[in-house]
Amino acid sequence: MAGRIPRQFIDDLAARSDLVEVVSSRLTLKKKGKDYWGLCPFHNEKSPSFSVSPDKQFYYCFGCGASGNALSFIMEHDHLDFVEAVEALARMQGLDVPREEGMQTSAQQQEARRQKEKQVQQYRAMQLAQEFFQQQLNKPEGLEGLTYLKEKRGLSEAILQTFGLGVAPDQWSALKDQLTQAGITEAQQLELGLLAQKEETGRVYDRFRNRVIFPIRNVHGQVIGFGGRVLDDSKPKYLNSPETPLFHKGQELYGLYEARKQPGRLEKLLVVEGYMDVVALAQQGVQGAVATLGTATTPEHLRRIFRLVNEVVFCFDGDAAGQQAAERALDNVLPQMVDGRQARFLFLPQGEDPDTLVRKEGAGLFEQRVNQALPLAEFLVRHLSTGLDLKQLDGQIRLAERARPKLQALPGGLLQKRLLASLSQMTGLEASSLLPVKSDPVQATTAPARHSAPQQGRPSGQQLTTLVEKLFRLLARYPELIQQVPEDLDFAQMEAADLDVFLPIINYLRKNPSITPQVLLAYWTATREGEALRVSYQRALELDKQAAALEVEAICSRLRSLTGEKDSQQRYQALLEAAATRLLSEEENRELMQLMQQLPPSHG
Ligand code: CTP
Ligand code: MN
Repeated sequence: MAGRIPRQFIDDLAARSDLVEVVSSRLTLKKKGKDYWGLCPFHNEKSPSFSVSPDKQFYYCFGCGASGNALSFIMEHDHLDFVEAVEALARMQGLDVPREEGMQTSAQQQEARRQKEKQVQQYRAMQLAQEFFQQQLNKPEGLEGLTYLKEKRGLSEAILQTFGLGVAPDQWSALKDQLTQAGITEAQQLELGLLAQKEETGRVYDRFRNRVIFPIRNVHGQVIGFGGRVLDDSKPKYLNSPETPLFHKGQELYGLYEARKQPGRLEKLLVVEGYMDVVALAQQGVQGAVATLGTATTPEHLRRIFRLVNEVVFCFDGDAAGQQAAERALDNVLPQMVDGRQARFLFLPQGEDPDTLVRKEGAGLFEQRVNQALPLAEFLVRHLSTGLDLKQLDGQIRLAERARPKLQALPGGLLQKRLLASLSQMTGLEASSLLPVKSDPVQATTAPARHSAPQQGRPSGQQLTTLVEKLFRLLARYPELIQQVPEDLDFAQMEAADLDVFLPIINYLRKNPSITPQVLLAYWTATREGEALRVSYQRALELDKQAAALEVEAICSRLRSLTGEKDSQQRYQALLEAAATRLLSEEENRELMQLMQQLPPSHG
């Protein structure tokens, strides 16, 4: 790695590589008509549904929906990151990858290489750990766990195999000894969360003991974490890997890799709560179930889901907690409901979860429930009008107040139009008073002259102002959440009101990410910024941190989508630059890939 790869080179490379050649060097293709067909490498299948179009230089699988161009094919197929895929494709064409000079010192290059090697080791360690747990199933130490899985939970050999389930023996250093023998250091095992450490004595020990083990895999099938369940009623029932360099709980979906591997076309994903739910549904033949890992569904989860399918069904318990979780999911999914996507809500009978229910009634009846799940629009309207008397003026006004933020969170489109129509009918209010028109009085008075000529597609200043205000409030209460605000989100470019107060604080927080709200307030005491902080802090006092974190994430993703293509260009460049100095995360690599396909080619 040396310096940034010029964008022009990437565009040219993509333009002149032949997808048919790239794909057929890795799997067998047959020509039928204009296109080529083969067995999809991204899921299991018996008859070919993977098509490659030489005209469009685009592949598409009618089975699992995988799609992309030569670079994304290499990334996915060879498990490479974006930069590695560019290098591989260039090699095929006998080209050297040029690098822009002066971007990077040799110390940085060395650091990047070191990081890469470390990551390879980490994946290897996780793989070895998974194999270790799995092997215990056939040993005396694992007999109790095996019996639990098979007899208590009714799992078949085949499903244990598909999900790679295992068992951790009731010992303090069984895994540690095994991994140490394989050359994985104690420090590495600690960093991966395989070992835990006693605070007082510093003694280290296997984190997972006497539990059945669910390996958590990323979309490539690499093991990144584990969940472990006790065999009885002791607490905690589940223990999960902590956050590690490989494992980020708020992004991963348990069962996604396995769902994609299933034969047949993946039409929709079903989001359930637990590991056991995913496994039991798969065993009964209900496909496409994935679980969040003990967290609410995040915007990141949803982005992953909608990259794969156009329909998501959220599955909740019938109790109050389930209702609350559903409201959270609703808020997170609204900004992503562009036309063509569907979200539905399924509430299970009290006391049941998908695992118990599918065993009781079988796949057929369970699927019927899924098919009858409440569409988003209906769930939203029902939720908004809960407890209101819509025959009374007061009820109608309250409904309008509740509806406004939800309607604003939606990207424009058919769903927004439809909801606007029915809510305007229910409240007796004109549509325009439910959804502020996209003109902006604030901006007219505060924006500098260079903005006076309206650009097309510029985001509404009012929307930005609302989002930025909310973000400010959340950060005043939990300043450390600044770490969830992407560094390249450029607030200075946004036409939101009150930026003069907001910007200094954001910049200050970016430099002091671990400051407490009290110190933050003290530092800005007796300034305009300080006054704004104080008010915001007061208003957010009761706010739960977990909820705040989710909201920050949602706001940032909304801000990003509002700021449009100009941002995409900048983001693309920023990612290319970042790739020159450090390893990109899996998410960043995908983003890079997508941006490359979305943006018009560069010129010059
Ligand atoms: N969970 C967790 N930590 C806990 C409890 C739960 O991470 N202490 C997560 C796990 O991912 C679990 C999910 O939340 O699968 C749902 O938990 P729960 O409903 O309590 O358990 P079930 O999935 O029903 O588990 P089981 O059927 O094995 O009792
Ligand atoms: Mn359960």
